[in-house]
Amino acid sequence: MTRTLRVDPARPEREHLAEAAGVLLAGGLVAFPTETVYGLGADARNEAAVRRIFEAKGRPADNPLIVHVGDVEMAEGLAASFPDRARGLIDRFWPGPLTLVMQRAPHVPALASAGLPSIALRMPDHPVALGLVRAAGAPVAAPSANRSGRPSPTTAAHVLADLQGRVELVLDGGPCRVGVESTVVDVRQDPVVLLRLGAVTEQDLAAVVGRVAVHPAAAGLPDLDIGEAASPGMRHRHYAPRARVVVFAAGAAEAIAAARRTAQADRHVVGLIVSDQTADLLGDVDRLVRSGPREEPGVFAVRLYAALRSLDEDGVDVVLVEAAEATGVGAAVNDRLRRAAAGAGV
Ligand code: TXA
Ligand code: MG
Repeated sequence: MTRTLRVDPARPEREHLAEAAGVLLAGGLVAFPTETVYGLGADARNEAAVRRIFEAKGRPADNPLIVHVGDVEMAEGLAASFPDRARGLIDRFWPGPLTLVMQRAPHVPALASAGLPSIALRMPDHPVALGLVRAAGAPVAAPSANRSGRPSPTTAAHVLADLQGRVELVLDGGPCRVGVESTVVDVRQDPVVLLRLGAVTEQDLAAVVGRVAVHPAAAGLPDLDIGEAASPGMRHRHYAPRARVVVFAAGAAEAIAAARRTAQADRHVVGLIVSDQTADLLGDVDRLVRSGPREEPGVFAVRLYAALRSLDEDGVDVVLVEAAEATGVGAAVNDRLRRAAAGAGV
């Protein structure tokens, strides 16, 4: 059975956090909001509990989980070594949407890391997530709280749509502020390696550590030699709705209109996700979701996964999407769109 508890996202009620922490410490699963997306949490020290995360999500066993910490000291206890470049990034971006891959301390169970010698650590910038980790006094392993392969959840309703009956408790703290998953960066060597794009951009990282290497998977290139340094999650089809997704360049309103006419002539049920500017040009069109002003990719990021889910619910079989402008978090939005479209054979 799944219980849902509404919590105040700015000042979460102590008793709700204590109750959720109790569920975690008893080996249960708790879904909770972070600033990026909702996470599906378990006590990272409890192997049986962590195993249940993989089962609940249908997640491949080779895809490691991010471990959430309540403060830097907790992170220090989980990593075997703490390079200076990690400290610089932590000082600048924690709490926040940045995950650091480090060497795992020998006493930390390997299951959350899917057996890798590394561990991915993040201190979330959300009072509910931070309050939960601190109330539990334990590191919390938490991937995004979706069924594997589905778009990440940015509301409690999305979590319930995927995981009802598979998680003991959902903390409903309203919609997430960022909307796409954290930036993942491997800090074990110099230059650091950017593994997944997010709201903390390559330029943001470079401003702190100097040079940043971008892993081919994060750069949108075919992943030839994923190796141990890579994010195993990048191998799997991700962020995908049921419908086929076709992505168009930012501003390509004419091409989108033409593709829509063709798809409708072929009797497809077509959904659109387009900027306000393109929506205004297209006029009154069914099943159109606005991604916000083109110059504000942050608005697109917040709406992206909800848009994909709502068009699925409307029964569309093709989604035509106008890409974000590739500034700021827009690069991460476009990365997720590319993955959602992968294998669709435009
Ligand atoms: O914003 C986020 O990061 C959200 C919230 C809940 O914190 N979590 C999230 O987790 O997106 P998940 O499991 O959906 O994605 C974790 C990513 C995957 O691509 C995984 O392969 C990578 O991080 N990862 C985890 N541990 C790793 C490790 N030891 N080495 C390399 N990549 C790792
Ligand atoms: Mg995920």
